Amino acid sequence: MSSQAQSIQMPHSRQGSPMWSSRLAFILAATGSAVGLGNIWKFPYITGENGGGAFVIVYLLCIAMIGLPILIAEIYLGRRGRMSPINTMKYLARADGSSPHWKYLGWMGVLAAFLILSFYSVIGGWSIAYVGHAVSGDFNLADSATIGAMFGSMLQSPSTLLTWHSVFVLMVVAILSGGIRGGLEKTVNILMPLLFLLLLVMVGYAMSTSEFMRAVDFLFTPDFSKLSTEGVLTALGHAFFTLSLGSCAMMAYGSFLPKEVSIVKTSVAIAVVDTLVALLAGLAIFPLVFANGMEPGAGPGLIFQTLPLAFGQMPAGTLFASLFFFLLLVAAITSAISMLEPAIEWLEEQRGINRRLAAVIAGVAVWSVGLLSVFSLNTWADFYPLSFMPVFAEKTFFDVIDYLTANIMLPLGGLFIVLYVGRCMKPEILSQELGLKGMPFRLLMFLIRYLSPALVMVVFIYNLI
Ligand code: TRP
Repeated sequence: MSSQAQSIQMPHSRQGSPMWSSRLAFILAATGSAVGLGNIWKFPYITGENGGGAFVIVYLLCIAMIGLPILIAEIYLGRRGRMSPINTMKYLARADGSSPHWKYLGWMGVLAAFLILSFYSVIGGWSIAYVGHAVSGDFNLADSATIGAMFGSMLQSPSTLLTWHSVFVLMVVAILSGGIRGGLEKTVNILMPLLFLLLLVMVGYAMSTSEFMRAVDFLFTPDFSKLSTEGVLTALGHAFFTLSLGSCAMMAYGSFLPKEVSIVKTSVAIAVVDTLVALLAGLAIFPLVFANGMEPGAGPGLIFQTLPLAFGQMPAGTLFASLFFFLLLVAAITSAISMLEPAIEWLEEQRGINRRLAAVIAGVAVWSVGLLSVFSLNTWADFYPLSFMPVFAEKTFFDVIDYLTANIMLPLGGLFIVLYVGRCMKPEILSQELGLKGMPFRLLMFLIRYLSPALVMVVFIYNLI
């Protein structure tokens, strides 16, 4: 913490409380947050919907030029404040002599992460259901019609969705009750590397299909005529989503980061791993899409309708399928916990509630909001709650929450984070704490002060008009 920040009173500061046990533990936890359904479920299907290569390039640019600087800024703020995001922003603003309204940045982040979790846990529930299908051997030699029907009937059944949504939320609450070290670290240490390995196996299988090169072409040969302006906003929004940015989740994790760890190197590692996982998922999935004559733009069901086909045909498919959907579930859970952590920290600090009770309260709340998404997929599939607003026309509750968070709240949160770090803090403090000098520091400052905020604003405003 800077000397300035130390000189003011920080009643909730966690000095002396547990930290991540090592740099690696933090990297794994933060990577666990970043790598999730966003990489394996969302990235392939939005890439498919937005025409492939051109979208991928814009997405990669967003990660490097906007995502990475914001990731650095966000982790940095967390470590400097050492509190829940809301209190971190409140006290840092006081220490830096800025407006107390900065605390609303924390509030918006907590709310965004909470809303995301409400539908994320429904999708997490799908992966639990698919572990079940995999273990029972339901994919064995199934054709694409059978697999499609399996997916469709799951969506049509509110009770199935509700059951798995509830189980998912329960697991998240159980892990979070255990606190940072006991719950999070152990889970992530073993399972994240395993997921990576299994994805490589899937890519290996995809390479053996006839359409691998077509998929490579689809993913990496840009055709900008296929990219709409909404596609650009989707790419930007996804850069935030996939790196868990703009919602103060990384700020919350950064608040446990030991002083001596390099934030810049760590952030680069997180962004690289996250991007690799997304690209691997694309390389595993699109060859199967093409080989089976499916539509790349099939939407949210894409991975649940393609991968089972491959599993059904490969040797030891039942084993690999079970393992894959289990690891997808793990990836989803390690992300989900980071969405609820900020709210729980705040309940603990501000309301003096113990961690377990805080986790239960937050869990019940998120479960209830999640019902909106559950019913959006069946009973309310034709109900468009905000259709009087053009941006939300023909969007169900599920779609509204997804759009509102990924395309509006997260970019806005990220924008304010870089504005704060770039404009309200002394550059000397930043340079010293990040351990950066000279050209690299000037480059980072340029990104944080000018380029990222400008790009976010341009894309944002362009889309509003
Ligand atoms: N990054 C995760 C994924 O790709 C999702 C996620 C975790 C997230 N924490 C977040 C998204 C906070 C937004 C905000 O699946």
